[in-house]
Amino acid sequence: MIKVAPSILSADYINLQKSIEAVDQAGAEVLHIDVMDGLFVPAISYGPAWVKAIRPITQMELDCHLMIENPERYVDTFADNGADLIGVHVEATPHIHRALQMIKNKGVKAEVVINPGTPVSLIKPVLYLVDQVLVMTVNPGFGGQQFIPETISKIKQLNRLRNENEDYDFTIEIDGGINDQTVVKPYEAGADVAVAGSYVFGAENPAERVQAIKKATDF
Ligand code: DX5
Ligand code: ZN
Repeated sequence: MIKVAPSILSADYINLQKSIEAVDQAGAEVLHIDVMDGLFVPAISYGPAWVKAIRPITQMELDCHLMIENPERYVDTFADNGADLIGVHVEATPHIHRALQMIKNKGVKAEVVINPGTPVSLIKPVLYLVDQVLVMTVNPGFGGQQFIPETISKIKQLNRLRNENEDYDFTIEIDGGINDQTVVKPYEAGADVAVAGSYVFGAENPAERVQAIKKATDF
């Protein structure tokens, strides 16, 4: 069964605590926090202060997806504010190795993220360093976009690489356009964690949607 990481990007910000508690009780293992700077992606969302505010209200793993230019500038702040995992895009910095090392040095799980247009070969030199690889299944920047099926071959490739190489010890996450239908093929290809924003928080009952994703991969 896949792990579910609801993205608060699509949650009701005014009643955020209620939304978080609902998915927590539904059995979501991870809470996905999308940080956008208006440069790497057009939108501006929220920053480290939100991580600090959320930290005391849940035991879920806080997964901070940094869609910001030169993310190494903010690694320490996110770690100090309670992030359990920090994800940095290979497209956002010329110093991806340093950024990942900085994350590891803070004792936090390190994740490298690739856009739909970025090949797996680009992150091969850092695969030995990471705890998780996030394969974007939409172009980053907004919730509610359509899943891009061509990204599945990259999940297969990463799954093969980790099976063939004992130096690699990473999980695979998918993010964008995930629902109880689109989650199945990436799960079969090797994905371990599924981010879902609009599918979960766009519903009357977010808890049911968390369960529906899990059920769809219970085979
Ligand atoms: C997109 C974000 C996603 C977003 C997913 O840039 O990285 O985490 O919240 O939203 P859905 O699940 O609606 O595609
Ligand atoms: Zn995300």
